[in-house]
Amino acid sequence: MIESLDTLRHYVQSATSRSFVPYSCQPRAVLALLSDGRWTCGVRIENACYPLVIPALSSALVSAASMGRRDVVAVVFSSSMKEEEKTTALHLVDSSFDQLDDDVLGHVGRTYHLQEKLATCKDLKLRLNPTSGIFLARQAARYAHTPESDFPVGAIVVTEDQKYFQGANIEYPDWRQILCAERAAIAAAISAGAKDIRQIYVSCLKSSKASPCGACRQVLYEVAPNSVIWIDRGEEVAESFRPKDLLPDAFHLSES
Ligand code: THU
Repeated sequence: MIESLDTLRHYVQSATSRSFVPYSCQPRAVLALLSDGRWTCGVRIENACYPLVIPALSSALVSAASMGRRDVVAVVFSSSMKEEEKTTALHLVDSSFDQLDDDVLGHVGRTYHLQEKLATCKDLKLRLNPTSGIFLARQAARYAHTPESDFPVGAIVVTEDQKYFQGANIEYPDWRQILCAERAAIAAAISAGAKDIRQIYVSCLKSSKASPCGACRQVLYEVAPNSVIWIDRGEEVAESFRPKDLLPDAFHLSES
């Protein structure tokens, strides 16, 4: 049995309140434990195009994978796991997982020494500019896993309080589980409690015409409306955009 299961449950409970669930009002968080005892939490992130929701499990897995960590040894849910969550975890993480409790998948009889949490959040010592932001986005792209597309992308989200989070596109055979690098970085940021996303640097060196996809535009519009998105296509000067310009006449569910 995993040591400190109660501590892991406590961590995942505290992450739950960071969910972005204005539509369902049903917060959800998932903790992914790594083989060295580090862990990351992910929260559910909704948007007005309901099926584009980022599930808490995806948030947790992509936050770890975007830092080069794919050695998930257990998954803890904020309440009893749903059947589809179990199926997805077995599929994406480890088909030999045992169900250790209503809310835990892992391996019977193994122990892990819980460490400080995975550093998905880093403090900036100096303010980033487009050159340094894009440098970091290119570094993040090294963690992209692209067996499906061979199209690596990296992204860095910077918050108002000068913290940054990285994301990369991590591909699975089931394309519905794939998130772009932009949404991976946003998932890491929101899951860590980021409130005000100011800049997003994206590096996409394989296309001279790269630009955020439709799904990312909707998510950016809703969770990072005040941001500036810088796109690096390998040229000298990166191009910048605002979410409202990327998605004119955006869909709103309510008048507010
Ligand atoms: N992709 C991104 O990560 N960001 C973009 O802005 C465009 C596309 C990813 C998604 C998928 O893994 C691959 O690139 C091909 O679309």
